[in-house]
Amino acid sequence: MIIAVDGPAASGKGTIARALAKHYRLPHLDTGLLYRAVAENVRRMELDPTIEADAVAASNFPDDMLDDAALRSDDAGQRASIVSEHPLVRAALLQRQRKFANQPGGAVLDGRDIGTVIAPDADAKLFVKATPQIRARRRHGELRERGSTISLDKVLADIRARDLRDTGRNAAPLVMAADAGILDTSFLSIEAAVIRAIELVERQLALKAAAARGAS
Ligand code: CDP
Ligand code: CDP
Repeated sequence: MIIAVDGPAASGKGTIARALAKHYRLPHLDTGLLYRAVAENVRRMELDPTIEADAVAASNFPDDMLDDAALRSDDAGQRASIVSEHPLVRAALLQRQRKFANQPGGAVLDGRDIGTVIAPDADAKLFVKATPQIRARRRHGELRERGSTISLDKVLADIRARDLRDTGRNAAPLVMAADAGILDTSFLSIEAAVIRAIELVERQLALKAAAARGAS
């Protein structure tokens, strides 16, 4: 069983994907971390994230970079959305994500293009959203907890800039898959959002099972 969870920055998709993975006992991949690792590698190699060849050269990052706390910074998120615009960077990360999705037993993946590009045949798809102000408040709280002194205004401006870049790019833009269930977490607690996410997944699985019975 493959579950695809997409949505904009700080919508709650990672929290929901992790909870779904636990509920269904599936492995989980936060695909945003891969783009953040490329961005961090670009920085370390002193390359230019806006140059495709530079970003591609940084796509071959060491695996332990995925555990680096630097990947969680606001800056790393911004730079990740710059490197992720390059089609060749997306191509370099595609196989790894597809392999994870198609492992025996299935998986939960969260990102921007899981339901549209990485796993278009996923058994269940969610599109998680929340207002930019609420997402900024949540992300600001997280960054502050980690010791950052960044202002709420800066986090909101960065989230808006990232939304524009992620939805406006040519390569695998952030769009809702036609068959995704929408989950607006703006006014939901994490617990309520997870319950709703499981309901949406169950409904999609039931519809698929009914369609398969009808076809046979
Ligand atoms: O956690 P948050 O939503 O803030 O960001 P993330 O999921 O770590 O993703 C960082 C950036 O990587 C995004 O702004 C996207 O530009 C890019 N990304 C992507 O292009 N495709 C994905 N499947 C996941 C992330
Ligand atoms: O993965 P993404 O960037 O979409 O968001 P996240 O890391 O799952 O969630 C961002 C922050 O919002 C975390 O601190 C979550 O605990 C919080 N959150 C929330 O307050 N209410 C929700 N319904 C979902 C997440």
